Formats: sequence, C-alpha cells, structure tokens
Amino acid sequence: MKVMVVGSGGREQALAWKISRSPKVEKVFCVPGNGGTRPPAENVPIGALEIEKLRDWALAEKIGLVVIGPDDALALGAADVFSSAGIPCFGPKKNAARLESSKSFAKDFMLRHGIPCAKSRVFTDSDEARDYLLQAKYPLVVKADGLALGKGVVIAETPEEALAATGRMMDAKEFGSAGETVVIEEFLRGTECSIHAFIDGSSHLLCPDAKDHKRVGEGDEGPNTGGMGTISPSGAVDETMLARIREEVLDRFVCGLKKDGLDYRGMLFPGLMITENGPVVLEFNCRFGDPETQVLLRRLESDLVEILLATCEGRLSEISPTWSKNAAACIVMASAGYPGSYEKSLPIEGIDLAEASGDTVVFHAGTAWKNGELVTNGGRVLGVTATGETLEDARRKAYAAVNEIHFDGCFCRRDIGGGIL
Ligand code: AMP
Ligand code: GLY
Repeated sequence: MKVMVVGSGGREQALAWKISRSPKVEKVFCVPGNGGTRPPAENVPIGALEIEKLRDWALAEKIGLVVIGPDDALALGAADVFSSAGIPCFGPKKNAARLESSKSFAKDFMLRHGIPCAKSRVFTDSDEARDYLLQAKYPLVVKADGLALGKGVVIAETPEEALAATGRMMDAKEFGSAGETVVIEEFLRGTECSIHAFIDGSSHLLCPDAKDHKRVGEGDEGPNTGGMGTISPSGAVDETMLARIREEVLDRFVCGLKKDGLDYRGMLFPGLMITENGPVVLEFNCRFGDPETQVLLRRLESDLVEILLATCEGRLSEISPTWSKNAAACIVMASAGYPGSYEKSLPIEGIDLAEASGDTVVFHAGTAWKNGELVTNGGRVLGVTATGETLEDARRKAYAAVNEIHFDGCFCRRDIGGGIL
C-alpha cells in the first residue's frame, strides 16, 4: 500500500518514520515533507493546504491511505475531500474538526455532553467583553475562538492585561477572524498532560500519556511556543486518573459525536489539566500533537498502519496494540529568536553522531536541503528523541545526542522532563 502523510513538521516526520516500518507499506509520500524524509519515504512538492491538488495527485498515484497532520488542513475540510474521492483518510471531517478550530463550539459540545471543562463565557461584542472583564475574578484566561498558531491564549493576572488581550484580538484583529469571538474562562490550577486517543466514530483507543513543555524557557519562563519538548509517560496520571479520563472525557466524547452526528475518524488529543477535582479539558486538538507524536511513536511497538486503518474502518474495538514500557523524551532544538523571528538556511551538523547509539532518532521539523547541504528552515528545527528504561535514562541519552548537533544559534530547553541536564 502507498501512504500519503500531509504536513511538513516533526509530527509528520515521526508518522512517516513509523508508517514506513509497516510490512503493509510499499511507499510513503510526505507532502510537502521536510529535509528529514528518508527512503523509502519521498517528498512531494504540494502545499498541505492545496487540497484539490493533493486529492488529484493521490488519485493518480493510487494512494491507499491519507494521514492528515495539521489542524488547518482538517479545518479546511481535507478529510471530506479525500473521502468523497473514495480515498481512506485519517482525520475528522470539517464539521467535527470544528472541535479544534472553534473553541466556543468545543465548549458548547463539552457542556452538552457532560465533559469537564473550565467555566467560561463567550463574547462576540468587545464592549460586553470589557464590561465583564472589569468585574471578573483574576487570574483568568482569554482565548481567541479560532486557530491562532498556538498564540491565541493569554493568561491575564489583571484587568489591564485581559483588556489588552481582548483589544488585540477583537478590535485590532491580530488573528483576523479567529479573534472576533473570544472565550474568557476561569484559570485552573493543576498539572497539565497530553492525552491521545484514536477515535473511529463509535469507540476510542487510548495511547500512553505524555507531557509537553510549551514555554520557551527553562522553568516554564517566557512566551508560549508550539512545544519545546515532550516526555512519555507524563508522570501526572496514575491508573485511577486514566480510568476517569476514559470515562469522563473519552466515553462522553464518543457518545457526543454520535448524538450530534459528527463523523470523526482520527486522533483526538485533549489538552488536560489534572486538578484536585479530576481531569478538566483545556482544549480539544483533532490531530496528533507535535512534539507528542515523536515520543508516542517511539513507544509504539505495534504496526501503526493497522491502527490507522482500523480507525478509518470503524474497527478499533478489534485491535489492542502494544506500547513499550520504556520511557521516551524528545528535546526540540530551535533557531535563535524562536518563537519570534529567526534566520533560516544555516547548516546543520552532527545528526549521524547523535543517532549513532541506536536509542536516539532525530526527527526533522524545520529543515531543508540546499545545494546538497542540510540547513535550517523553521523555528523548531529538530526533535531529538531517545528511549530508555527510565525517564532519567531517556533524558540522559537525548541530551547526550543533542550535544552532538550544531547549527548557528541553536538552543533547547535543558529541563525537559526534570532538572537541568
Ligand atoms: P490551549 O491552547 O487552550 O491549550 O492553551 C495553551 C496553554 O494555556 C495551555 O497549555 C495551558 O498552559 C494554558 N491554559 C489554557 N487554558 C487554561 C485554563 N483555563 N487555566 C489555566 N491555564 C490554561
Ligand atoms: N504540542 C502541542 C500541540 O501539538 O498542540
């Protein structure tokens, strides 16, 4: 079978890496992919949002399975287009992908189906938002309703900060139409973790838990990023908490899909806060996390393609994949200036040495080939991902591998999953 992975980040690189290990797979195409695509995978120069072109290419190439990485392709209806063309597609249809692309839609879904979420109010009028913010309790959280590249969430300690945030979103339209509606919600205290579950429309299959590190600096200082590193397991949930997540989030989610007639065959990644009262959903992501996918797929022992196909065909209840008991850690190496502006086209060295131990895989994200040389091509450049018997073991190996790699201005957080290494 030929498989097409849509997207160009570290997540898509990890998906292509695991998919190409399946005995069912003859060829993997990364569209558009990045500098890390290695045989038997191959890049195809079509943009992830050029959906009709992708469909035509997939039909001509007789692609047997499409896996959509990014949220914006799903929000545009990529899964609808492939399904209408008769190509099996992993990823929810447009009306279900709104669970990520509209936070107010997601809130409404959670409230109607009894899924625990933060108390909130939705505003479409900036004067009404202002009046509310002047008498609200602080801290609170201001969220742009739509997709905003991970920058649409502001934790405000004071009314001034909250008013500045709604001003930027609703009046100055910093995120375009994505910020015309805002969700203002209570600030929750607890420990965050990333949960992933395959959803086939009528059942779910839970993956091991993971933890991202969203702030750019050590000790969770500085601005939010797409994610500076992950570990799995997260250390934040035990069996009892996992059972509650299954019942209070996933069972109710699948039940809600059926009641609302939403067609969802893909990955659900709820961002959760584990509070003293139990799990609370911060947001739904309707796709694999990045860089959560890198650690999860290093721990998956079974054939990913079997799980993807079972998801598309509504057969998840028939399979039970195995996951390694080992821990995994992914350290993101980023370009100087990220998450702000950064230089591109800087030569990257040392990846072969970093992978020499055999326990480390360096997943490319913002990389490209230029005149025969591997160079930087984005903010998050590499996800150095190691496994080990314990989390400390995995972290130690990952940081040893990081130390072998160099490009001008490269930096990473040295505290992914624990103390500074
Ligand atoms: P989101 O994109 O909604 O996951 O929000 C980005 C980050 O903001 C999350 O990873 C949390 O760290 C933080 N956050 C979002 N909502 C809340 C909340 N209600 N209480 C506390 N922190 C939050
Ligand atoms: N790592 C967070 C995300 O993919 O949204």
